[in-house]
Amino acid sequence: MAILVTGGAGYIGSHTCIELLEAGYEIIVVDNFSNSNQESLKRVMEITGASMKIYNISLLNTTELEKVFKRNNIEAVIHFAGLKAVGESVKSPLFYYKNNIIGSINLFELMQKYLVKRLVFSSSATVYGNQEIVPISEDFPLSATNPYGRTKLMIEEILRDLILSDENWCISILRYFNPIGAHKSGCIGEDPRGIPNNLMPYISQVAVGKLKELNVFGNDYSTHDGTGVRDYIHVVDLAIGHLQALKKVMSETGINAYNLGTGRGYSVLELVNAFEKASGKEIPYNICNRRFGDIAICFADTKKAKNELGWEATRGIKEMCADTWRWQINNLNGFN
Ligand code: WQD
Repeated sequence: MAILVTGGAGYIGSHTCIELLEAGYEIIVVDNFSNSNQESLKRVMEITGASMKIYNISLLNTTELEKVFKRNNIEAVIHFAGLKAVGESVKSPLFYYKNNIIGSINLFELMQKYLVKRLVFSSSATVYGNQEIVPISEDFPLSATNPYGRTKLMIEEILRDLILSDENWCISILRYFNPIGAHKSGCIGEDPRGIPNNLMPYISQVAVGKLKELNVFGNDYSTHDGTGVRDYIHVVDLAIGHLQALKKVMSETGINAYNLGTGRGYSVLELVNAFEKASGKEIPYNICNRRFGDIAICFADTKKAKNELGWEATRGIKEMCADTWRWQINNLNGFN
């Protein structure tokens, strides 16, 4: 029996594949490598000494995707595959709706057809919209402020309707806060295409001299130093959270959403300072205008995941920065 991992070559997917293989699971990866690199899976196999089946397939290709279900004995699915750049989703909403939602529906229909009803779904704290209150708990109202966030929210709603129609489904929805860091080997890590949208990969590219300086998007927020505060979580902690969620969906029916965060927020300038200490490199920055759509402060209430998944993050900001730096300094051009 195998675990199907869609988007397994991506940043979070590849780190989760390592944890799955090291826990003894047999895995199958489906990825179209549109926003990832097959090299990441090669390195996953090198790090673990294990192997996996890899299918270069888009979730929009139902004919090829069905062959994966026909040819393998799949017992559960961890569904990462999806586009996740907020700005890109605003420019190309139909591309995002088609890729993320139609792709997910194709997957769920085949799971239903082949009686594979155990699912861990990769969602995002972005479904909480512009929350003024922190910490954020899973029962907070849901909303979205951009097409990417709306795809995550819609897929969560689809899953809630699905389980109402068939109570045999077992679904864990995982809402990530801000994943950063890398596997301690320094062999895999975040490898964004083009100029990074997110803070940590931008900082690390400034540190290695690929980018000149960091633009800090506003220092007039109502936070202790005026810059945005986020709940940064080590990607390995996040990966381990998926294994706990997988165990849950293997053992009981129902649907639950869980925050995967640390419950602690760090500001932009705090992260810059932590990275300078970890790398020994100065990160020059300039304060500029706020980025449209950004909120001041966001961090998780983590009690539900601790109580129901037996999971909590253990890696701190120093380790997140040190592990990011090790990946970046050893892979100046990512996987290329
Ligand atoms: C973090 C902080 C910025 C870049 C996004 C997505 C979210 C999720 C995680 C997928 C903010 C500031 C950033 C820069 C900066 N992705 N910043 N200069 O916006 O919290 O969340 O990534 O699920 O859906 O929205 O993360 O890393 O972009 O920003 O000052 O060059 O860093 O203003 O305060 P964000 P981020």
